[in-house]
Amino acid sequence: MPIREPSQTAGAPPALQLRDIRKSYGEHTVLQGVNLKIKEGEVVSIIGPSGSGKTTLIRTINKLETIDSGEIVLFGEDFIKDQNNTNPTVLRKGMLRIGMVFQSFNLFPHMTVLDNIMMAPRYHGKPSDSELNRKQAYYLLDRVGLLAHADKYPHQLSGGQQQRVAIARTLALSPDIILFDEPTSALDPEMVSEVLKVIQDLAKEGMTMIIVTHEMDFALSVSDRVVMMEHGVIQLNAEPTAIIDEQNQQIEYVRMREFMGRSA
Ligand SMILES: Nc1ncnc2c1ncn2[C@@H]1O[C@H](COP(=O)(O)OP(=O)(O)OP(=O)(O)O)[C@@H](O)[C@H]1O
Ligand SMILES: [Mg+2]
Repeated sequence: MPIREPSQTAGAPPALQLRDIRKSYGEHTVLQGVNLKIKEGEVVSIIGPSGSGKTTLIRTINKLETIDSGEIVLFGEDFIKDQNNTNPTVLRKGMLRIGMVFQSFNLFPHMTVLDNIMMAPRYHGKPSDSELNRKQAYYLLDRVGLLAHADKYPHQLSGGQQQRVAIARTLALSPDIILFDEPTSALDPEMVSEVLKVIQDLAKEGMTMIIVTHEMDFALSVSDRVVMMEHGVIQLNAEPTAIIDEQNQQIEYVRMREFMGRSA
């Protein structure tokens, strides 16, 4: 069952538009004017060296980080501007539409898997103990292949299973966009594929996603576009077919292939 049908309206606004996003920590400029547009239903992966600003960038999208200047527009509507110009009501409404999955799962250790998922709607001011909510939690656990583990606690699960719970928990909030920050980096290698499979399924169902990842083959296979960041700017934003085309000798493409370990 598809989670949502992407809007096919020709004139639909992008799901997300980042305009000239800038951010510094003291003297250190981390984002130097980032522009990025993501259509509804699109999957965009962000790759780049350590310290290039990937985490900072995606954390600005759900306001875990402030921006110094620029703006973020959500489905054609004002969302985030710099601190002095962001409207709190608009911000809160927008934040409810964006889910995030972290490298470190961030599950509540003292709650069962089921309760972790049922809790999620409470953050959004919705009742978290309704029968409907319970049914949804079971449905989502089934989707990520963990129905049999509903009554376990996080420490009784493997890392890959915990990350799948974290994804189900994010889905319980019915987000329009999901941000992933290196969702498989904390996992043992044998658990990476089970988590990537869940993300791949979401992509097939039309979920709009931004995925920061070091899994290069996955990025090329799941994404509509792959973005390479370096020194706080986007060096290249291209479709996978264009990236892997060895005929393409433009310097940005060659460097992206090198970074991905694909150069001859
Ligand atoms: N809260 C902070 N205070 C000061 N500097 C920070 C803070 N957060 C990040 N930085 C700096 O900003 C730069 C970008 O960090 P960021 O975490 O966005 O990089 P990244 O591309 O996600 O790297 P990685 O691949 O290692 O996760 C780094 O130089 C980092 O040290
Ligand atoms: Mg990071």
